[in-house]
Amino acid sequence: MELGQILVTEKDIQRRVAELGERITADYQGREVFVIGILKGAAVFMSDLIRQIKVPVEIDFMSLSSYGTATKTSGVVRMLRDLDREIAGKHILVVEDIVDTGLTLSYLRENLMVRKPASLKICTFLDKPSRRQVELKPDYCGLEIDDYFVVGYGLDYNEKGRELPYIAVVKP
Ligand code: IMP
Ligand code: MG
Repeated sequence: MELGQILVTEKDIQRRVAELGERITADYQGREVFVIGILKGAAVFMSDLIRQIKVPVEIDFMSLSSYGTATKTSGVVRMLRDLDREIAGKHILVVEDIVDTGLTLSYLRENLMVRKPASLKICTFLDKPSRRQVELKPDYCGLEIDDYFVVGYGLDYNEKGRELPYIAVVKP
């Protein structure tokens, strides 16, 4: 894997995460948020984000896998790890690293809505709106980017690059 341009610096990431945390804090005043992180990509973002949310938080994780290649999803989603507990009546915030075609989150949203949460919102650090195949608009988004394949801050290319503290473009 060869890295190209740095798209988001460590400093810019931390600033955006703080801003998202402030907005979420304001929107959830007087409530508890049940934050669901989508493994593995969202783990890094989620751990930063929950420390910027100043209302009570519960966390859990789900792991989904879509069949496909390293850079292309097939749209067929498989659940590898489900939640530990029920979410009926809770205010759910799904945290994702990046929304690309939207297929993963649209599958997940349907799956979670069946469990009757009080509300369900989506927070993604990155969004590639030009790649969307189904309608999916994140409620909170750190940054919209063009159609690059990126790594860092939890995002991987064939499991590499997750540990980078910035987000960089992968050279094709
Ligand atoms: P979607 O179902 O096409 O929206 O796929 C979203 C998933 O694809 C994300 O959770 C990532 O795991 C992966 N993905 C999409 N774009 C990128 C990228 O640029 N870098 C790393 N992973 C990506
Ligand atoms: Mg992912």
